Amino acid sequence: MKLKGKVAIVTGSTSGMGRATALLFAREGAKVVVTGRNEERAKEVVDEIKAEGHEATYVIVDMVDLDSVKKIVDVAVDTYGTVDILFNNAGLLSVTPLTQLTMKEWHDVMNVNLTAPLYLTQLVAPIMKEKGHGIIINTSSVAGAHAHHGMAAYVTSKHALSGLTKSMAWELGPEIRVNAILPGAIMTAMVDSVGGEAAVKHLVDGAPLKKAGQPEEIASVALFLSTEESSFITGQLLRVDGGIDI
Ligand SMILES: NC(=O)c1ccc[n+]([C@@H]2O[C@H](COP(=O)([O-])OP(=O)(O)OC[C@H]3O[C@@H](n4cnc5c(N)ncnc54)[C@H](OP(=O)(O)O)[C@@H]3O)[C@@H](O)[C@H]2O)c1
Repeated sequence: MKLKGKVAIVTGSTSGMGRATALLFAREGAKVVVTGRNEERAKEVVDEIKAEGHEATYVIVDMVDLDSVKKIVDVAVDTYGTVDILFNNAGLLSVTPLTQLTMKEWHDVMNVNLTAPLYLTQLVAPIMKEKGHGIIINTSSVAGAHAHHGMAAYVTSKHALSGLTKSMAWELGPEIRVNAILPGAIMTAMVDSVGGEAAVKHLVDGAPLKKAGQPEEIASVALFLSTEESSFITGQLLRVDGGIDI
């Protein structure tokens, strides 16, 4: 087991890549804190982990409300005593042309995709520093490296998260390694919400691997970044996208 005894917070783990990562981390021996807004799906993930004989608990928070975010770390520490891994994976998609963006939508997207990861990092970093070891992974996006038309708030939040990843790596080392995963088109509820496979056909067609990814193909990379197998990697923006834009 690669994460035996570790405590991992996986935000946005009621669905998609976060769910796949929570299941994989638990199978590798981690005690997992599952988070999201949907309690029914959070409970299902925790029940599935427990049915496999592993440990997990859940916290329901809407990360638009930044004050509620602290509850995630409080529950992790109260339940499991520490935090070893923080996977900032929850994300809010925004497909609104910038001339039509309301300030509310802009701030909601920034809160979930950028500010909550910063706040969670501020809360866990002292714990990890004191232990002398910690792992933080941020889910950026290929939209964190290139602009996508009509997605200004999302693109901006993910570009900023890519930059924040590098700042985190500088300021939190040497004890804490920080990296970002930049997924391409991955078949999750987020892609379904904008039209499913048809909506990502241009990304699939423009990549050498000619297929959309599955959540498990992100989870396995998150596992790699969480273990000593990636011990000399920090501050990196790792694209997991089938080769888009190479
Ligand atoms: N799918 C893709 O092609 C793709 C590509 C690049 C990057 N990404 C990024 O990958 C990450 C995971 O997305 P996914 O594709 O796995 O989508 P998903 O299946 O829709 O999962 C999104 C997760 O984020 C949580 N979440 C969303 N808004 C939240 C909020 N306001 N407060 C708390 N939790 C919230 C959701 O929880 P609830 O549903 O319980 O609220 C859910 O667990 C996101 O950061 C996304 O931006 C996705």
